[in-house]
Formats: sequence, structure tokens, C-alpha cells
Amino acid sequence: MKTTKIAILGFGTVGSGVYTVLQQNSELIRHRQLLDLSVKRVLVRDLLHGRNLALAPMETFTTDYADILADGEISIVVECIGGVNPAKDYILRALQAGKTVVTANKEVLSKHWPDLERAAKETGAGLYFEASVGGGIPIIRALNDSMQANNISRVMGIINGTTNYILTKMTNEGRAYEEVLKEAQALGYAEADPSADVDGWDCVYKLSILASIAFHARVNIENIYREGISKVSAEDIAAAKELGYTIKLLAIGKKQDEKLLEVRVHPTMLPNSHPLSSVSGPFNAIFLTGNAVDDIMLYGRGAGMLPTASAVVSDVIVAAKTAKGAHPYMTFNNEFDAPQWLKNQKDWTSSYFLRMEVDDELGVLSKIAGVFAEYGVSVHSLMQKNENKANGSAELIFITDTARELSVQNALCALRALPCVREIKSVMRVEE
Ligand code: NDP
Ligand code: HSE
Repeated sequence: MKTTKIAILGFGTVGSGVYTVLQQNSELIRHRQLLDLSVKRVLVRDLLHGRNLALAPMETFTTDYADILADGEISIVVECIGGVNPAKDYILRALQAGKTVVTANKEVLSKHWPDLERAAKETGAGLYFEASVGGGIPIIRALNDSMQANNISRVMGIINGTTNYILTKMTNEGRAYEEVLKEAQALGYAEADPSADVDGWDCVYKLSILASIAFHARVNIENIYREGISKVSAEDIAAAKELGYTIKLLAIGKKQDEKLLEVRVHPTMLPNSHPLSSVSGPFNAIFLTGNAVDDIMLYGRGAGMLPTASAVVSDVIVAAKTAKGAHPYMTFNNEFDAPQWLKNQKDWTSSYFLRMEVDDELGVLSKIAGVFAEYGVSVHSLMQKNENKANGSAELIFITDTARELSVQNALCALRALPCVREIKSVMRVEE
């Protein structure tokens, strides 16, 4: 039986989950995988007040990373600290010391992937990151080891548990944003700084990793269009419901052709019949479209202690069974920057949901329709509501036919200049 000694860096939600799974399932792993995995050291910041210290024997913990680096018995370092500093430095030093690294850290990976992978290659160590996208969903392995025969044209999904939890509770229970966010934090779904979740950054990091692997070319985070959920209002949710749609924060990556990608993260209206509409709470789901396999959807818990630990421990098992020098690496031809041929398309096509407050007067509709026609935006449906007799306004809600993003943005500029349009209250893309 092969014995592998592991160190865990950071003992918060994910780090303690990894320890727990390795303890609870050690017999199963021994029997099924012929591996004896044991956690030799855990790096924490504070030996007296650190979180979860009761879980492991006191001699396991250290505050000095040198103890782990210098320990020749430890061959796998599991990074569960999060963020860029000091995680990047710790990962690099482990790789330089020839230790394989397993990480759940999408931020450091999406920002510094080439540096980390180069360091891994130099010593033949492994760099594994299944938990960085989709929590417990084995999406990285599905892309690398199960869909490798395909030319993948689309990845699209709900890849942030916190925002999906918030939007679900706001939709189903009509609860306030702040209250639901606190709940998601208490449940261990949210990032240390939850603005990473609600402003869409977490999705951007994950989409950068997903799209890079799916499209076989590194997609930098700077190339990804981003909008978070902070502007999604109770009125938008109510209007969406009335029209038969659900609002989700979607990450979308599409190959328009072999040289043109569109990569975007934004709140999206989905018809209730769409499979992603019924993905609720902290659950994630990812659609992949390959030219051989057609559509695949993977669904599961995208965040939380044990689901994330499931993915981390799976990486630990694969890493422990792989000989030094035999670990797989990415083969992007653009290690450092997007290649010249990889264009980032900002002018994608979509349907749009537009909600605006206008003067409740004769002729207003025809003026607005005129602007849409001028910019080539065709209206699919229109709903008028909330006539406010006191201030003489009405609310108009348009769903457009498929239109170009730039045409819609130009039409919105022209609409804002019309005296009869008091406010464009929301603009949301619709995915059919
Ligand atoms: P937590 O904040 O719960 O845990 C991070 C831990 O790291 C804390 O206990 C913190 O210590 C410790 N830490 C911070 N700095 C240091 C340091 N310099 N030395 C030692 N320990 C340190 O975060 P999570 O467990 O939620 O997230 C960890 C990683 O996993 C992140 O990259 C995150 O994006 C990723 N992830 C998280 C998921 C989730 O559901 N939570 C799901 C998928 C990925 P202290 O307690 O003293 O602050
Ligand atoms: N904060 C992240 C989420 C954790 O809510 O999905 C999982 O990566």
C-alpha cells in the first residue's frame, strides 16, 4: 500500500472539510484506491485562536511554512487559504521544492496560471485544481479527461453558489438581499470578501479557467465582460416572473468561430423551461457543447465544506497515484498572453429585457419604436404596467428579438436622450 503524507494550508471551510473527508473516508480510499493518505501538518495563522483546531491533534498544526517545505515526507500540499497573497508564494515554493500542489483557489490560478504551471513543470510536480470551478462538480476532469475528443463550442452555467443562493431566495421568498447574503456567508458558501461573489469576480475567475480549458487557449480575466447582481431589483425579479422567466447570474463562453470568442458574466433572464432555471440555492450547473457529444449538463453543489472537499480529495488521490514527472499539464499555445488570432468579441448577439419609466402620453410608444427601428432592434414583446397617475409616468417592459449588443447599447443611448424617457431602469440579456 502506498503511503502519502499531505500538508493542508489554511484550516477554514475548505481546509477543515478536506481533513474531515480524509478522516471519514480513509478506509474506503485505502480499500478502493490502495492509498494510505495522511495529513501530517496543517498551516494556520494562530495556534491559540485559529478555526477548527479541535479537529486534529495539536502537534499537526504549525504557523511556520518552513516546517512543511523542509519536510521531505510531505509530497502533496493542499492550498486552502484563498486569494493571491500569500497563496501564490506558498504554491510556488511548494512546486519549486518538488511537492505537488492541489488548490481550490480560482483567483490565484486564473491570475497566475502560467507562472504556477511553469514552476510545476520545472520540477515535475503536479498542479491540480478540480475544486476551483463548480465546487463538488467534477467539471475540470470532465473537460480534460472525458470531452477531450470534442471541439467544444460553448460553456455556459451557474458557477457561483452564493449569488445563486441569493437570487433563489429573493425570487422564491421575496427576501431582502442583505439578509440572504448573511445566510450564505454563515453556510460557508461566500468568499472571505463577498463582493467577489456578488460583483461577479468569482465567476470571472472560474470562467477564465473553464473557457481556457474548453477552448484550448488561455482566456485572461481582463478579456471577460463582467456585471454582478447588485443592480438586480425586486421589480426585475417580479417582472421576470410575470413574463415566465427566471434571473440567474450566468457565465457564458461561446466560440463564434475558431478565432472569435465571447466570454461574459452577467445576470441573465432564462425562460422557466430552461434547465438552468431550476438550478436553485447553492447548486451549480454547467452546460457544455461539443461537436461529437452534443450537449452535456453537469449539476451539483457548487460550494460548501464537504462538496468542495470531495473535489480536492479527488485531486489528492489522482496526484498520489501519479509518478513525479508524469503529471499532466495544459498545452495552451498562448502561455503568457492571448494569441494574436484570439479575438475577444464584445459585440455578441442576444435578446434583451429592457425596463424603462416613460411619460404616460400619446405618441411615446411610437417614438421609442422609432429608435429601436433606427438601430435595427426588433421588439418581440411589450408590457405596460404601473401607470403612475400622480407623476404621469408608466413603466414599459420590452423583450427584443435577437439583436447585436452594440446596436442595443446605441439604441439605449438614443432612448436616454428622448425627453419622454425618464429612466432606463434595467437592461438584462435573455438567453433562450
Ligand atoms: P476560509 O476563509 O473559510 O478559510 C481560509 C483559511 O485560511 C482561514 O482559516 C484563514 O485563517 C486561513 N489563512 C489565511 N491566511 C493564512 C496564512 N497566511 N497562513 C495560514 N492560514 C491562513 O475560506 P474557504 O475555505 O471558504 O476558501 C478557501 C479557498 O477555497 C478559496 O480559494 C476559495 O475560493 C476556495 N473555494 C471555496 C469554496 C467554499 O465553498 N467555501 C468552494 C470552492 C472553492 P483565519 O481563520 O485565521 O482567518
Ligand atoms: N464563493 C464561491 C461560491 C465558493 O459561492 O460559489 C465556491 O467557489
